Amino acid sequence: MKITVCKNEHDFDVTAAWRIIGQMLRKPDSVIGLSTGQTTKNMHAIVSDIYKQYPFDTSRVTLFNVDELTNLPRSYAGCCYTMIVDQLSRNLNIPDERFIMPQTISDDYEKECRDFQTALEARGGIDLQMLGLGCNGHIGINQPGTPFGSETWVSPMDPIFEERVRRETGVGPEHELGGLTLGVRTIMHARHIVLIAKGEHKADMVRQMLKGPVTEDIPASVLQLHPNCEFLLDADAARDVMDMI
Ligand code: GLP
Repeated sequence: MKITVCKNEHDFDVTAAWRIIGQMLRKPDSVIGLSTGQTTKNMHAIVSDIYKQYPFDTSRVTLFNVDELTNLPRSYAGCCYTMIVDQLSRNLNIPDERFIMPQTISDDYEKECRDFQTALEARGGIDLQMLGLGCNGHIGINQPGTPFGSETWVSPMDPIFEERVRRETGVGPEHELGGLTLGVRTIMHARHIVLIAKGEHKADMVRQMLKGPVTEDIPASVLQLHPNCEFLLDADAARDVMDMI
């Protein structure tokens, strides 16, 4: 297993940003999967800054996000589409044709899932997937218990997160919210994965992911089996795995 530990949060953000830039420079027609959340915000800002100062070729890059919320308008700032447009794709001059995302509102989410996965396959599959880690071990929105064989699907929302989204959007209970996510199997088909985790609050899950058994109870543990996955951590998140380095 390849584990990289950065000495502090800033070093982590910069190193993670260069994983994305390096991929685009090495393969200008790369298909790159992103993740939203606190872990990736600074990383996206650094990629944007470096591009602004030293523009490189993004004219053939395809981006997508590993997951998306359903039944919310894209105008909601918490939609993954909107977050990535604001944080990265617009800054890199990547138009919607090369930012592959499912619709957030649809009357056929199964089709949205199929179309999302098919669009990525049609571009030759995923070259790099940047993957955040949930405190309960989730990857994408594949919560504990998700079968390792899962393809792109709509997962139930975490109740606490759902409560917050409803409060912020005013979307009522008549609309069922969900998390459309690449499945575990789909993620495992990425040619290269960088699992990113920073902060002390992730340390216990990092330990379980890397030292524990490979089990559907901890979706991220499946990454132990990926032939080309790097675990990129800051020192706080790596607290309990330093003996593995
Ligand atoms: C959400 C996202 C995931 C992300 C995770 C980590 O669940 N849907 O894709 O990996 O949060 O979030 P954070 O970086 O804020 O800890």
